[in-house]
Amino acid sequence: MTLRYSLFKRLKSTKPFYVTTPIFYVNASPHIGHLYSMLIADTRSRWEKLNPNKFSYMLTGTDEHGLKIQTAAEKQGIDPKVLVDRVTGNFKELSNKLDINYDRFIRTTDKDHVNLTHYFWNVMEEKGFIEKGSHSGWYCVSDETFYPEANTEEIEKDGKKIRISSESENEVVYQEETNYFFKLSAFQDQLVQYLQNNPDFIKPQHRYKFILNELMTTKLPDLSISRPSSRLKWSIEVPNDPSQKIYVWFDALLNYLTATGFPNGFLQDSKYITPEDNLWPATHIIGKDIIRFHCIYWPIFLLAAGIDLPKQVIVHSHWLCEGFKMSKSLGNVVDPIEISEYYGIDPVRFFLMENSNIEDDCKFSETLLERSRDSLLGKYCNLLTRIGGGKFDIRESVEYCKKGKFDDISQLIQNYSLKKDIVPSILQLSTDLQDDINNLYTQMDEKIINFDYIRAVQTWWQVINQANQLFQISEPWLYIRALKSSSGLDDKTIEDYKKLINYYVFLCSETIRISSILIQPIMPNLSKDILDRLNIDINMRNSDYVKIGADLNYGDGANSNKHKLPLQKLQPRVSDKIDD
Ligand code: ME8
Ligand code: MG
Repeated sequence: MTLRYSLFKRLKSTKPFYVTTPIFYVNASPHIGHLYSMLIADTRSRWEKLNPNKFSYMLTGTDEHGLKIQTAAEKQGIDPKVLVDRVTGNFKELSNKLDINYDRFIRTTDKDHVNLTHYFWNVMEEKGFIEKGSHSGWYCVSDETFYPEANTEEIEKDGKKIRISSESENEVVYQEETNYFFKLSAFQDQLVQYLQNNPDFIKPQHRYKFILNELMTTKLPDLSISRPSSRLKWSIEVPNDPSQKIYVWFDALLNYLTATGFPNGFLQDSKYITPEDNLWPATHIIGKDIIRFHCIYWPIFLLAAGIDLPKQVIVHSHWLCEGFKMSKSLGNVVDPIEISEYYGIDPVRFFLMENSNIEDDCKFSETLLERSRDSLLGKYCNLLTRIGGGKFDIRESVEYCKKGKFDDISQLIQNYSLKKDIVPSILQLSTDLQDDINNLYTQMDEKIINFDYIRAVQTWWQVINQANQLFQISEPWLYIRALKSSSGLDDKTIEDYKKLINYYVFLCSETIRISSILIQPIMPNLSKDILDRLNIDINMRNSDYVKIGADLNYGDGANSNKHKLPLQKLQPRVSDKIDD
């Protein structure tokens, strides 16, 4: 295939996989929970890119308007713009330091976003879905939402009576004012029908059932989509009405459309048609705390405007610390930058993906993080250490395969095994290992596209463990010893021994090569160091090369004694040293 043709094919036929994270409030610094949403999206986006025929686009960013930010700025005695510029920097720093490979970092203060928000407001108004009215109710600044009175309760805090939301346990205050409203209920039936026809729209399934059930049993109230400018100063102005500012969630949700260039290219005969090569529709990654906004309000806004609904909303659970949801307001947060400076970026990324599933809340623990890291060192890196020393020769083993020298290997295993009783195990294990390596991409793909990262990682470990086990029971170093110690071996035996040694080395190095290619989306740095060490061509680190023997040109210099260990043992922390 010529380069031009393949480029043409990619551009013509492949729609990018568009994945988004929530845009985060900039009232405080980021923690592990935010990193988690970013990582789920980043891993998925990188996984797509592993296939040279596919494209992906990842969007993350910050949600910079609203009362929550305004109040935080007031408390610090600074201008909201100064606060948002500072804190958005922390989120950007987090994504850059932790190697989150986003395609755009959007800020709701970006000009194109403000323009889009005005455009969208006008569309809704022209279609007659926005009405002015008066409103009273319990507003929660922390969650930026009104709660029905029945969902709030009075409690005592520091000797004072306050009212809180029963759901989020954050304080609510009574507010009465003039607002613009959006009639959510006008689209309730349409959304129910859409959900019934698209049972995979919300994942996991129990979240889908929860939303569907709510929509089928409770009439949606009108949604207030603006606040008086006297109260809410720091937000986008309602077009043609300076007395009102746009409700922060209305503005925030639209970020997902801003990044697609909407409405450019969408408008055909006064209908919005998603262009073939456009990013839209998105797959949204969100935490369960904001499910209602993404699974009820957002789809309804889109239905009302006549825009395709998102492809999917993936709702993940929360990271807990000391039994509570890790949150900025509770202050029980783990700083991802701090822990990654000590444990390393890739071990932290790996730990979060290995120890969580989107269904259940996960407990953060440094003991588990250390255990994850130890396994990487003791099993993944160790496999490389085992075959990467001066005794073996990875390049030679690859060359042996290239020259077809392993064709009679089963026979040789039987003839020369030093312990006859384990021959069947060795044969079985080497067949299983080869099958499992060759199926690894498909096996992991099946799980990753369903956001089941924990099981994808388990499949990955299985292959590494098998290779370690094969190396252990086949004991290739014994042939090396035999070659060194007995001078009376004939040429054929010497060559046969070398074939056996190289065969085991080759299976282990293929395990490392392929498993490293496939773990790149989760551990981009450690995998790179290992692939560099094996001297794998940069263009052969993708899903076209994940079968045994697909790349037989690597290994030069891999056994030189110049190399450092790809991951170092943890050193005691400075503070630990002082305590000792
Ligand atoms: O809600 N565990 O922003 P936010 C896992 N700006 N994930 C967590 C988490 C935890 N303990 N804590 C936070 C907002 N998250 C809005 C979103 S989107 C158009 C607007 C993650 O700063 C999780 O993804 O409160 C959660 O949904 C999000 O951060 C909330 O971030
Ligand atoms: Mg929040």
